Amino acid sequence: MSFDEIDPERLRQRRSAKWVHYGPELLPCWVAEMDYAVAPAIRAELQRAIDYDDYGYPAYSREQLVPEAFAERMAQRFAWRIDPADVLLLSEVVQGLYLSLLALSAPGAGVLVQTPIYPPFLSCVRETERRLLLSPLVEQGERYGIDFEQLSAQAPEARVLMLCHPHNPTGRVFERAELHRLAELAIEHDWLVLSDEIHADLVYPEREFQPFASLAPEVARRTITFSSASKAFNIAGLRCAVAHFGTPELRARFEAFLPAHARGGVGLLAQQATLAAWSDSDEWLANALRQLDSQRQRLQVRLRERLPAVKMYSPEATYLAWLDCRGLQLEQSPGSFFRHHARVALNDGAAFGPGFEGFVRLNFATSAGILDEIVERMAGALSGA
Ligand SMILES: Cc1ncc(COP(=O)(O)O)c(C=O)c1O
Repeated sequence: MSFDEIDPERLRQRRSAKWVHYGPELLPCWVAEMDYAVAPAIRAELQRAIDYDDYGYPAYSREQLVPEAFAERMAQRFAWRIDPADVLLLSEVVQGLYLSLLALSAPGAGVLVQTPIYPPFLSCVRETERRLLLSPLVEQGERYGIDFEQLSAQAPEARVLMLCHPHNPTGRVFERAELHRLAELAIEHDWLVLSDEIHADLVYPEREFQPFASLAPEVARRTITFSSASKAFNIAGLRCAVAHFGTPELRARFEAFLPAHARGGVGLLAQQATLAAWSDSDEWLANALRQLDSQRQRLQVRLRERLPAVKMYSPEATYLAWLDCRGLQLEQSPGSFFRHHARVALNDGAAFGPGFEGFVRLNFATSAGILDEIVERMAGALSGA
């Protein structure tokens, strides 16, 4: 299947959150799932399980294969050399974020979060009863950047920095200089850094990704890095993630907090699909990125033509566009407006932190035709409003 030939009727057969949640009347472009077929190697692994009725327990002897594939990938792609023995298998990145706060910080501890932010970062701090320290990213021309002055003022109160790199929803890939300034603050104030790097494989050609922990050994020592094949290879429902611990001590405290059986195991199919993604799907990934890049540019052009009052922050990574809809001067939230009047389901900005009520997030990982339909529906709602 080509990335641009997607049959909407086939998509409607899916039972995933994106396609089920709002029902058939709405065109969904909210949650981070892609409309594309998975890589052939992943499909072959899943098909193999069906052919052999291979739905049993994963073998202990194969448990290190995913950590090994992750370590190899980090070395090849980002020249970050790590020991697979420091990598733990989890079922979700978000699970890892929650457990890290619970295991490695005290109740009430200050946790820095750079808003607007992927909403589970906010619920993670609130539900573990840590103290949310909001550090809003600021507009710097056509993109968002870090307000280091504000961050430095908050720094002494913080115990943890929750970094989202590349950043969801702004699409920023933080540059070396920005990462170094963050690292300096982390060292000076003895922060634990939780670096969610799940979108690292989806960086567009004009940017270069650097894992935060790879900056220097003294940075790695205070960092836990999270990743998964779920975003870049479109297998979020399978549930497999990894955490890399900068020291054996961090790992030991994490594991002691909740023993392996209490954390829950990662299924055989999830492990096999992740191995196929990380070891045998780079050609597919390169093609997916080309499609996404063209979708990103198409969206920018279409919005300028059809919804010129909407400002798009063109992402440097991933397939989520952060749209400032305040210029539309709607009387309700833009997410609700477009759901009701355009039959398009976007993510409402309010969920990404205070002050972002006038924004929406749009997932453009689909075909050109479906993307055009999304924009046409939105434009039509405005002309009829
Ligand atoms: C930044 C970020 N972290 C984590 C996740 C979810 O990962 P998981 O399903 O492994 O918890 C997403 C999903 O969109 C995400 O964008």
